[in-house]
Amino acid sequence: MLVSFATLCFAALSGAASIVTHNNDYLNYTVVPGLFLQDDPSTNASTFNFMTTNFGLINRTYPTDDTCKEGHQATQWERFAHYIAALNREAPQNVEYKLLYMGRHGEGWHNAAESYYGTPAWNCYWSEKDGNGTAVWADAHLTANGVSQALAVNAFWASLITDQRIPTPESYYTSPLTRCLATANLTFSGLNLPQKHPFIPEVKEYFREGISGHTCDRRSNKTYIHNAFPTYTFEKGFAEFDHLWEALHGETNADQDIRSKKVLDDVFGSDQSTYIGITSHSGEIASILRVLGHQVFGLSTGAAIPVLVKATVLKASPPTTTYQPFTSLSTCATAPITTASTCDDCSCCK
Ligand SMILES: *[C@@H]1O[C@H](CO)[C@@H](O)[C@H](O)[C@H]1NC(C)=O
Ligand SMILES: *[C@@H]1O[C@H](CO)[C@@H](O)[C@H](O)[C@H]1NC(C)=O
Ligand SMILES: *[C@@H]1O[C@H](CO)[C@@H](O)[C@H](O)[C@H]1NC(C)=O
Ligand SMILES: *[C@@H]1O[C@H](CO)[C@@H](O)[C@H](O)[C@H]1NC(C)=O
Ligand SMILES: *[C@@H]1O[C@H](CO)[C@@H](O)[C@H](O)[C@H]1NC(C)=O
Ligand SMILES: *[C@@H]1O[C@H](CO)[C@@H](O)[C@H](O)[C@H]1NC(C)=O
Repeated sequence: MLVSFATLCFAALSGAASIVTHNNDYLNYTVVPGLFLQDDPSTNASTFNFMTTNFGLINRTYPTDDTCKEGHQATQWERFAHYIAALNREAPQNVEYKLLYMGRHGEGWHNAAESYYGTPAWNCYWSEKDGNGTAVWADAHLTANGVSQALAVNAFWASLITDQRIPTPESYYTSPLTRCLATANLTFSGLNLPQKHPFIPEVKEYFREGISGHTCDRRSNKTYIHNAFPTYTFEKGFAEFDHLWEALHGETNADQDIRSKKVLDDVFGSDQSTYIGITSHSGEIASILRVLGHQVFGLSTGAAIPVLVKATVLKASPPTTTYQPFTSLSTCATAPITTASTCDDCSCCK
């Protein structure tokens, strides 16, 4: 059945395709400004609450509002979706728009431990251990607080679906680290999602956190992930074991940005969806924001950010990028002094 865009505002979830890229093309990303508060330089990320601001969607009109003739009053999100559909319909062949809903996992045991020990002692000593005897933070699981945070975001999505008729993700991706696998599950379980686009996330290696040399960033094996989250799928080539993590060594931010671009190129080049859910990490989402040219916008545990991305295929050689070697972590041999310590490096070693 053909649905006319002129008569149905919500019939926005179509028309897009993945852009075709060839070997020597370069995918360039920009953020479409003026749509979300998170992209406004005057928004303070440390006090911003996406759940009390309609996900940050700015109250405004769009040039396509007058073709939005619904029986009911169209919501801000419906008018937004109608606009995005028009942008994609009218875009030249080498341009595509996608909305990324990027969520950070809820609090994990590694977050709790970093708060408990303080960042210097965490970085220099505790983060290299698997745990402390009572808590385990190697491939950290969510704390009870982290579970509550994810459930709050689940309730938020439920309200957006009911009240705003928000376009929910048409595809889902998650980091392979347990805290994200679990957060995605809690966030998207039990929602009234369209049958056509159920919550079946694909696990993607490069949506993982910065590979820090901390045990919290060492992922579990594929068999474990599959057994714990049997409905999830894996990207092609996903390895049984974590070959990227190295004890006491970490990737640089520049390297992280190179692989963030690779995973975005992969998604934009293969996924026809306009609305995409990504469950990842503070460091990794910060890296993706750098690649997209979005302003710095720190997310607290459990927080999420929408970004409308314009991808342009350029017939230009990509800038040359070379991976740098991992850098060594400095560590303390024994637990550092933590009380009233002002050191921010390993000068607090005993
Ligand atoms: C953002 O808010 C925090 C917390 O209230 C405050 O400390 C900081 O100065 C604010 N930043 C700016 C740029 O206003
Ligand atoms: C948009 O407008 C509504 C009601 O008019 C208001 O409740 C809401 O806070 C506004 N949202 C933003 C992000 O400005
Ligand atoms: C281990 O770390 C957790 C924080 O993750 C803390 O609550 C707990 O008290 C610590 N256990 C010991 C024995 O220090
Ligand atoms: C969440 O995980 C539980 C336990 O594995 C599983 O039963 C449930 O189907 C999952 N929910 C979704 C939406 O994936
Ligand atoms: C995979 O991970 C699980 C859970 O950590 C572990 O019990 C199992 O031995 C691992 N499998 C292999 C082949 O190492
Ligand atoms: C490529 O993206 C950057 C920002 O991410 C932007 O400044 C630049 O104008 C874009 N170039 C083209 C040709 O679109």
